[in-house]
Amino acid sequence: LWTPAQIIEDQVQRVREQVGDRHVLLGLSGGVDSSVVAALLHKAIGTQLTCVFVDNGLLRKAEGDQVMETFAKHMGVKVIRVDAEDLFLGKLKGEKDPEAKRKIIGNTFIDVFDEEASKIDGVDFLAQGTIYPDVIESAASKTGKAHVIKSHHNVGGLPETMKLKLVEPLRELFKDEVRKLGLELGLPYDMVYRHPFPGPGLGVRILGEVKKDYADILRDADAIFIEELRASGWYEKTSQAFAVFLPVKSVGVVGDGRRYEWVIALRAVETIDFMTARWAHLPYELLEKVSNRIINELEGVSRVTYDVSSKPPATIEWE
Ligand code: XMP
Repeated sequence: LWTPAQIIEDQVQRVREQVGDRHVLLGLSGGVDSSVVAALLHKAIGTQLTCVFVDNGLLRKAEGDQVMETFAKHMGVKVIRVDAEDLFLGKLKGEKDPEAKRKIIGNTFIDVFDEEASKIDGVDFLAQGTIYPDVIESAASKTGKAHVIKSHHNVGGLPETMKLKLVEPLRELFKDEVRKLGLELGLPYDMVYRHPFPGPGLGVRILGEVKKDYADILRDADAIFIEELRASGWYEKTSQAFAVFLPVKSVGVVGDGRRYEWVIALRAVETIDFMTARWAHLPYELLEKVSNRIINELEGVSRVTYDVSSKPPATIEWE
């Protein structure tokens, strides 16, 4: 049996042999897989690695700054941050359909990434955070959501157009092994054991049309929910938890005034494989605290609901 340290040593050697003195490009999302690849490649080839981090305006609260803090500041990884919020929100304007929104976000991501990549001279390799289950999934099905997921996250369209060779050091590993590698490489525990976050981000957690105001409210509500989950020890007991923005207005009272504002839904699930899931039986006291905080701290929210739908038939995400 291999230890994380041995796997890292082995992959570092392999990457050095494959890459030589050439340059490697990596799309860094802040998710576990691409983060571990960044740390691993940095160890293997240092400044021959350039990461591109696209801030699409659909990330969680402070996420972009955290990615830059961890990689650029602490680890000294070369990361180019592209602030593309206006571009993404502009392209999404008026679009209400979930799958159309996914396509727009995925295609825009590829455009932005492609443009950044073309500015960097002498790149021969594209690194990807493909892990073993991705390899199986894409072999098993070329259609459906699994494919959509990977085509966005692992930048499926790029190698052909850019004629880059692939570097995929996690191809033979399962998620729990990837996490152990991440810790061994010195990534923060909270980053390595973070709940999964979909490629289209808040774009599929704002129902219908995506607007900046909605995204800002959702980011704050989500941050409160996650903060309370962590404080109560429930973050580790749930597999995925998040807030959803419902573009529905509801009446409330604050002091002697009437409030007519938006609705936030909370979703938390327990699952092993994300194919089926049970809604998490969070304590009432916790839900009460989260709900009170969201309504009291966020002017734009007048009501909070908790989603008690299991998968199937409901999906984990609302769109
Ligand atoms: P559903 O909603 O299908 O979600 O029950 C199952 C898991 O997949 C994630 N998910 C996505 N991930 N791009 C992604 O990268 C997507 O378009 C996408 N849709 C759903 C979801 O967050 C959950 O972990």
